[in-house]
Amino acid sequence: MPARLATQLAAFQEALARVDSEAALYELQVAYLGKKGTVTQLRGEMGKLPPEERKGFGAEWNRVRNAIEAALEERRAYLKEQARRLDLARVEDLTLPPLRPPAGTLHPLSQTRRRLSESFQRLGFSLAVGPHVEHSKYNFDDLNVPKDHPARDMADTFFIRPHRHPGFDDHTDNDAAMRLRAGELVLRTHTSPVQVRTMLTQKPPIRIVALGTTFRCDDDATHSPMFHQIEGLYVDRGVTMADLKATLMDFTRDFYGRRLDVRFRPSFFPFVEPGAEFDIGCPFCGGDGCNLCKRTGYIEIGGCGMVHPAVFEACGIDPEVYTGWAFGFGVDRMTMSQHAVPHLRHMFEGDVRFLEQFP
Ligand code: DAH
Repeated sequence: MPARLATQLAAFQEALARVDSEAALYELQVAYLGKKGTVTQLRGEMGKLPPEERKGFGAEWNRVRNAIEAALEERRAYLKEQARRLDLARVEDLTLPPLRPPAGTLHPLSQTRRRLSESFQRLGFSLAVGPHVEHSKYNFDDLNVPKDHPARDMADTFFIRPHRHPGFDDHTDNDAAMRLRAGELVLRTHTSPVQVRTMLTQKPPIRIVALGTTFRCDDDATHSPMFHQIEGLYVDRGVTMADLKATLMDFTRDFYGRRLDVRFRPSFFPFVEPGAEFDIGCPFCGGDGCNLCKRTGYIEIGGCGMVHPAVFEACGIDPEVYTGWAFGFGVDRMTMSQHAVPHLRHMFEGDVRFLEQFP
């Protein structure tokens, strides 16, 4: 074989051994057999040879070209197979857990509201609801709140001014709205009107709790114009204040995980007689005295008492036949003390850095 052909063949074979991709293989093919490839060029030199050598050179050239083509083909097939094996050998770890999508959590207040309603439902109470925009008859009058009671003052209560909606002139609700006198609609200042709504629509025995948002013209470090209450009502024959105390104690056992002392302090609310404020033994120190109960061993919870006969009469229930008790307390303070939240403000700002702490 002519030396120049032999050199090219050897160089090709050496380069071929280093080829590890189909792209590199193609480059090699171009370098040797392409239009300007080194082997292709040698063929052009054939004309310069003496005639007697030409034939032999041509035959050798063909052999070298065929050998290169065959080697390229073989290598190509090998690389293809190699790639296929690699693909088949790839292992996907299907057990790897996916990234969790960011899940929200319930607001701490909602958590307390749910736990409260679950506790009272376990004690046999049903859930009742009432509107935020309430008739002053239900919010005040039927609850025996006198016309001149300070709670009815504009400075304490948000009144809704009835007005005609121009776009809704043919709407009958507009006429109903216009029949309302100023001062008749309020944002409910407590959940107690749900007592009235329940007694107007249900016959005793009645056992309900109502949880919800309430509103007052209050806004400072410890008061928010929007806050939350829970109301309880139990009406039947022969219901006594002893039942109230026992129920509240059972509630503490369910809600705090242990039965806490319940203490009544005489107090006045127009819709109950007798009326009381009630405290529970401090759930944080068990009554020994701590910062949360201000070293008294008790935490103030809310108001309660025996349903006033005037309220029964307003609701069409005979006070000679039935007795009942009611209680009401704030949910926001309870939530705050439970989680040691320092400011009421945090509860309503919607700051995720705060909310994330209640998974
Ligand atoms: N509605 C009262 C308030 O907002 C709380 C209350 C006191 C509710 C005594 C009652 C009750 O049902 O009997 O301050």
